[in-house]
Parts: sequence; structure tokens; C-alpha cells
Amino acid sequence: MHARRQRLIFAAGLLAAMAGCRSAPPLPPAPPTATIATEYDLIYAISHAKMSRAPSPFLTSMVARLGLQGGTALDIGGGAGRNSIFLAQRGFRVTNVDLSRVGLDLTKQRAAMAHVPVTTVAADINRFDLGQARWNLITLIDFPFAYRALLPRIAAGLKPGGVVVIQEVAQGQPGLESPDKVLRYTFMARGDLDAPFAGFTILHDTLGEEPTVWGVKALMIRYAARKP
Ligand SMILES: C[S@@+](CC[C@H](N)C(=O)[O-])C[C@H]1O[C@@H](n2cnc3c(N)ncnc32)[C@H](O)[C@@H]1O
Repeated sequence: MHARRQRLIFAAGLLAAMAGCRSAPPLPPAPPTATIATEYDLIYAISHAKMSRAPSPFLTSMVARLGLQGGTALDIGGGAGRNSIFLAQRGFRVTNVDLSRVGLDLTKQRAAMAHVPVTTVAADINRFDLGQARWNLITLIDFPFAYRALLPRIAAGLKPGGVVVIQEVAQGQPGLESPDKVLRYTFMARGDLDAPFAGFTILHDTLGEEPTVWGVKALMIRYAARKP
């Protein structure tokens, strides 16, 4: 009886250890949203003239390849709006949700100059209601912050046939951090995408060293998938 109990305890321990191995390792604590907002307000205020206004080449290539246009688009952490404005020019009704009011002001100015409408929402995306089956396209481009809880909400928020486009620095990339070290970036693990987008049709899925908006090459995840 004693031996049987010991075998059961061992088996339970093994199962718990295996479950632990399967679950993703914990991420470092995210910086407070007020810190992120202040940092990005400063970054956009000081550097906006030098920042590229060109949309993400990965996003433009996916939009062209899939012939995406029109419908509703959510640009998560869209910042100064380079991707929002590109999508609005493709006929999408775009909402850019970002913590940085300076970034959103730049989006509004640039959208007005481009004569396209973009809705801006100053909010923490983790508290913003993505809704259910609401968006034709959701973009998560260069968003190196708490992302894991967002992924299932993105999946739920997409309409059937809707597309998610993600471009993120991958874990394993050494040496990229905010210059003043105030922001601790949280890089993505490719495996984190599998469960939230299970059943989606994968349209693009690469992990490789690519040019970034920061002017250096980095190990990047590029992923696009369509909801059934
Ligand atoms: C590196 S910038 C990328 C901006 C834009 N996606 C692009 O590709 O140009 C990251 C953006 O995410 C925003 N951000 C970070 N955490 C956020 C959160 N919890 N909710 C909304 N926006 C957030 C920042 O304010 C910043 O504008």
C-alpha cells in the first residue's frame, strides 16, 4: 500500500513537472503603463521628425499579397500612425489604440495631412474592449510589451475571415533595450502564438534576422494568419 502511494505521488509529481515544461515561462513584470506612456510621449516629442513614416514593409507586403482593403482595422499600439495611415489609405476604417497621447496627436496630424480618417483612442490596450468578431484586420507591429493576454483577445476580436498580422522582436535577440534603460522590453516567443491562433490558416510564419524600425537588424517574428 505504501509503495503504491509512493508510485502515485511520483506520477503526480511527474505530471506536474511535464505540465510545467509545456507552459510558457513567466515573463518579467511589465513596466507600469504610466511609465510607458511618459517614455513614448518623450520619444515621439523628441524624435518624431527623424522617425520613418514608412509603414512596416511586412504589413504592406501582406496587405498586397492578400489583396486586403476596406473593413475595420485595429492597430494595437499604433504610435505615431505610420501603419494606421497606410491602412486608412487602403480603405480600412482604422482605430489606433495607444497609451501615448503625443503619438496619437501625430497620428491625427498626419492622417489629416493625408486626407484619411483614423480614429485614435488613448487607452491601455489591456483594458480596451476588442469585442467579439468586430475586426477584419488586427495588427500588432513592434509592440514589445505585455502581449500574451492580448493574443486570445485578438483571436476573439477578429471576424471570421479576419486577418492578424504580427511583427515582433523574438526572444533570443540580444542587446536591444530602450536607450535610457527606463523601459524593459518584453520580446515575443514564437510558440506563444500557437494556442491562441489554433485553427487559423497560417499565411506567413518566419523567424529570422531582419531590418527593424530601430535601424538595426534583429531576430524578428513575422506572422500572419486568417481566422476560419
Ligand atoms: C515601438 S512603438 C511601435 C509603434 C507602431 N506600432 C509602429 O510600428 O510604428 C510601441 C507603441 O506601443 C505603445 N504601447 C505600449 N504599451 C501599450 C499599452 N499597454 N496599450 C496601448 N499602447 C501601448 C507605445 O505607446 C508605443 O506607441
